[in-house]
Amino acid sequence: MVLKFIYTVIFLFSIISCSSKGTTGKIDDKQIQKKTTAQDLYIEHCSVCHGADGKLGAAGAKDLTQSTLSSTEVKNRIEKGKNGMPPMKELLGSKENISAMTEYVLRMR
Ligand code: HEC
Repeated sequence: MVLKFIYTVIFLFSIISCSSKGTTGKIDDKQIQKKTTAQDLYIEHCSVCHGADGKLGAAGAKDLTQSTLSSTEVKNRIEKGKNGMPPMKELLGSKENISAMTEYVLRMR
């Protein structure tokens, strides 16, 4: 009788702890997605040449941590490209993405 009771308690406890883990997991995923949009885009479209930390310099790319361009110039470079840097306006898709990317690049300094 006592054993049955203990098993029931353990069983209920495992259900409760599982379901609460499930919920917080979902919230965490959403928060992470929101926070990393610019970073995701950067890794996808820019890190091949500039590297995850901006310093790679592949294909003649400039070190983004050493860049002295103004935010307008950075935005222009991202939209229109220059020499080995391809224009990224179409790839990034929206003004919001371009602004987020400009901020992300400026924060690398
Ligand atoms: C195919 C390689 C390549 C990719 C991909 C690439 N870049 Fe570049 N990037 C370059 C090259 C090469 C330059 C140097 C251009 C020049 O001034 O001659 C450059 C220059 C820049 C500069 C100007 C730095 C300075 O101080 O002059 C910025 C800002 C920049 N890239 C941002 C980005 C961002 C943001 C992305 C992704 C959306 C990206 N780049 C993707 C090759 C690349």
